[in-house]
Amino acid sequence: MATPRKLYIKTYGCQMNVYDSERMAEAMNGYERTEDPAEADMILLNTCHIREKAAEKVYSELGRLKPLKTAKPDLKIGVAGCVAQAEGEEIMARQPLVDLVVGPQSYHRLPQLEAKVAKGEKALDTDFPLKDKFEDLKRRPKAKRGPTAFLTVQEGCDKFCSFCVVPYTRGAEVSRPADRILQEARDLVEAGVREITLLGQNVNAYHGHDGGLAGLIRALSEVDGLDRIRFTTSHPNDMDDALIAAHGDCEKLMPYLHLPVQAGSDRVLKAMNRKHTAESYVRLIERLRAARPDLALSGDFIVGFPGETEEDFEATLRLVEEVRYASAFSFKYSPRPGTPAAERADVDEDVKSERLQRLQALLSAQQSAAQEAMVGKEVGVLFEKPGRMPGQMVGKSDHLMAVHAEAPQHLAGQIARVRITGAAPHSLAGELV
Ligand code: SAH
Ligand code: SF4
Ligand code: F3S
Repeated sequence: MATPRKLYIKTYGCQMNVYDSERMAEAMNGYERTEDPAEADMILLNTCHIREKAAEKVYSELGRLKPLKTAKPDLKIGVAGCVAQAEGEEIMARQPLVDLVVGPQSYHRLPQLEAKVAKGEKALDTDFPLKDKFEDLKRRPKAKRGPTAFLTVQEGCDKFCSFCVVPYTRGAEVSRPADRILQEARDLVEAGVREITLLGQNVNAYHGHDGGLAGLIRALSEVDGLDRIRFTTSHPNDMDDALIAAHGDCEKLMPYLHLPVQAGSDRVLKAMNRKHTAESYVRLIERLRAARPDLALSGDFIVGFPGETEEDFEATLRLVEEVRYASAFSFKYSPRPGTPAAERADVDEDVKSERLQRLQALLSAQQSAAQEAMVGKEVGVLFEKPGRMPGQMVGKSDHLMAVHAEAPQHLAGQIARVRITGAAPHSLAGELV
């Protein structure tokens, strides 16, 4: 058998890109993944377009790869992901180093594209094929893997928030059929996976099961050996009664929810085309907490959206005070070419920076409080790997907090009960019970 060639993939952006990178590597016949770009025969940059300077980052990364190509002229270089979708043609024209461009909805055709570049030609595919790419991908290998995995169940977005590129780079909402997802989940469990995070740009808009995402979660709960289920990212308007109920009574569904609201001012929410109000979001959180009182909440926030006043921004701070997040991500608004909001006057950069600082101070205080509140409690921890200290293992709690504890290495991949003894902003210390 021929020795496999080496594939190096650098992944940017969201978890969906992490999942896509795995699937791209699996699709590339005759290649084996490497962590060392210097030994690669092919390098793929799996890119993200969500915030500013996305394309510039790709050009500078390509510049850094130039010496590798000079040293090894046979090295093939490709650009995949959301920047490839948005600007792939231009990148290929401007940067002669690039042999291959492939969009997020066409990477099932990588073997054909690779055959083309192997002959010294250039290959570009940024179609949104009508056919589901997952139907063309091979079944996933059952080789041993770590205890946690991502599984994409839904792709694309029909929401068109006025600031966001995702509907343009990923296309319209598509759901994978439930039976295929169940098969993939069983294969993952056979490979050693105990926890699956279901992924979608709008995962709770999933409709590949009669019962929606809640129905899929309940079906997955029946898979023996799968102990934990999570999902991300959700839109508040798709959080239906069945999904709220699942948080209350589905034991394998973990008590953690990432539910971005973006802003706390109704004026700004309207301009963002979010189609919900601050009040409706807060009521939704109340219903979720009624179903699952210990639910750990996470969110995304944008500060300095065009037209955001100090008063609007203070409404965001008030919403955060009211909700109390366990963790959150916050960003300065970044105008994205082709989106409606990019046409409007931008808020002053210094004002954005100052608001981001104030919001982040509040969010990190809330995060510390949420971590502190765990001290003295007993939690489930899925151990993943040895910690930095000898004799220690690290894993994630049910609430998705990192936990360190003295534990034997054979607990890797196992869920153990741990009493939390100490808290730092980003990790908890505990002891086995
Ligand atoms: N589908 C998800 C996440 C989309 S991207 C959702 O609807 O929540 C992840 C986050 O990036 C968004 O929630 C938003 O907070 C941020 N984001 C998206 N576009 C942005 C932009 N133009 N400027 C700044 N942040 C942005
Ligand atoms: Fe972007 Fe909005 Fe769709 Fe999320 S819901 S991916 S923020 S358009
Ligand atoms: Fe980025 Fe595309 Fe994900 S723009 S956040 S990689 S969907």
